[in-house]
Amino acid sequence: MCGIVAYIGDREALPVLINGLKRLEYRGYDSAGVAILNKEVNIYKCKGKVSDLEQFMEGKDKTGKIGIGHTRWATHGEPNDVNAHPHQSYHGKFTIIHNGIIENYARLRTRLEERGVKFQSETDTEVLANLIEYIYEQGKTDAELAVRLALSKVIGAYGLVVLCADEPDKLIAARKGSPLVIGVGNEEYFLASDATPIVEYTKSVIYLNDGDVAIIRKEQLILKTSGQDMSVPKVTELTFDIGEIDKGGYEHFMLKEIFEQPRSIEDTFRGRVRPDDLELHLGGLYQVMPKLVEAKRIIIIGCGTSWHAGLVGEYLFEDLARTSVEVEYASEFRYRNPIINKDDIVIAISQSGETADTLAAIKLAKEQGALVLGICNVVGSSIPRETDAGVYTHAGPEIGVASTKAFTCQVTVLAMMAILVGKKKGLISEERFKNLIHEFTLVPGKIEKILTKADSIKKLAALYKDATNSLYLGRGYLFPVALEGALKLKEISYIHAEGYPAAEMKHGPIALIDDKMPVVVVATKDSSYEKIVSNIQEVKARNGIVIAVVTEGDTVISGMADHVIEIPDAENVYATLLSVVPLQLFSYYIAVMRGCNVDQPRNLAKSVTVE
Ligand code: G6P
Repeated sequence: MCGIVAYIGDREALPVLINGLKRLEYRGYDSAGVAILNKEVNIYKCKGKVSDLEQFMEGKDKTGKIGIGHTRWATHGEPNDVNAHPHQSYHGKFTIIHNGIIENYARLRTRLEERGVKFQSETDTEVLANLIEYIYEQGKTDAELAVRLALSKVIGAYGLVVLCADEPDKLIAARKGSPLVIGVGNEEYFLASDATPIVEYTKSVIYLNDGDVAIIRKEQLILKTSGQDMSVPKVTELTFDIGEIDKGGYEHFMLKEIFEQPRSIEDTFRGRVRPDDLELHLGGLYQVMPKLVEAKRIIIIGCGTSWHAGLVGEYLFEDLARTSVEVEYASEFRYRNPIINKDDIVIAISQSGETADTLAAIKLAKEQGALVLGICNVVGSSIPRETDAGVYTHAGPEIGVASTKAFTCQVTVLAMMAILVGKKKGLISEERFKNLIHEFTLVPGKIEKILTKADSIKKLAALYKDATNSLYLGRGYLFPVALEGALKLKEISYIHAEGYPAAEMKHGPIALIDDKMPVVVVATKDSSYEKIVSNIQEVKARNGIVIAVVTEGDTVISGMADHVIEIPDAENVYATLLSVVPLQLFSYYIAVMRGCNVDQPRNLAKSVTVE
């Protein structure tokens, strides 16, 4: 939610800021803005995307070697020019960019207004800028102390960068709850909400911890903890390359990421699954494996697509490891009074590693004494740092707002975990284990085969691009796939779509079915195949249009459905990994044909760092 970027060094700041904002635009695209220091601070900001900002700045003075930039996902105040960041304090001494929410902003604003401070915008960020300046002027202090004192009065979350006109040789950055990464160059520093804007300049980064304040001059970085102690910055090397965050010849990131799935799944099990070996190697779990094996219950938490992966995890763990599983929306879990027993294990799933609700749920679970494991894609993000142990997904950077390859990699990790626990519990024989591993290694090739059908899925999409409603049905392992298929369609094409367990259809959704309603049924050959065939008949009896994802060679459903998409046969355990791919493509093509912005759907953001 909101992307922030900043630069200090000998380069012109603007190109660094603009490139960075483009890379961060997936975090929000309601407005964009930059502030560049050159004798004085020039601020340019406007409603819309970074490209709108570029047009808006044409012909203006944009020179300067220190600058900050922001792309916004609106929380306080509608998306417009005034509410766009950067925000400047009332006497123009402080200019700031901020990601997060200042929860007590209304009270702080009233107090400042009572003291005569005037506001321009409706944002919580301007309150912070004015509070810093008020403290600075009243206390006759320096910028760093003013920032610290202001932050001590703030309730909420922030990742922020401050530029002070009186101290033009430095940037001040602080983090609590919202991510902030500093790239270390040669007498230059790059700051951003995540590492994607930084990797083209340097691979050495420092992830700020909650409470950290950094004072950054071009030749020096001073890091202090919330207690004002100096802290030695821990420099980490980035593991991805710039090429991974380009579109690589595809029209959209989403399409590229759908097509990357064979490779990203392989990357996720590479080194962990070895065909000739009777082991699965999950190094991040070695220490906790005995507890995972003994766990009486696993609670999986996540949001959005990650929650759907969690549902697949429920089937996997119950099926293969006979561990009871509950899957919870992190946002609900954190505000309940959940019962966590000492031999329960919590698994948090997150692509970004920064989702605010998931982070808060992790903290709650830890406070209650649970062992918390993470399944996460972004290395060094907050969730892997907050959890006790975990497994990275190795999907590579996912830029399209609608998650695709992260989902299949999350399921890949969950499958590996469940197989391993099942084996350690003695529930999976050697032969079955070998077979499961062999089947696992076939998954990427099978997905390649599905991807060759993209053109026929595109033709099918053309027939249903004008639908207004749709229903997605599945049973067992394929029910979460139905949910995920429906989510993909609604988030990028804005067609109303509902995912349902197929048998539940007769308890409500069946009333919606008519001859204009596409019903997508995920009906590959598994244990509930016969049942889902009956559900398809129920839809057909009401003149519904059935689009079925079936196993290659299926003649029964082909004879009943209006359209079938065939996918290769697979173990139940892996059917989710295959069957979700045609649904991703179907949504993608529909959204493109409807002229939607596939990579940046309206109102959404990739990383939801506010609750
Ligand atoms: C947002 C994204 C979704 C994602 C969800 C959870 O809503 O648009 O694609 O599934 O957040 O994000 P996480 O990074 O925790 O997986």
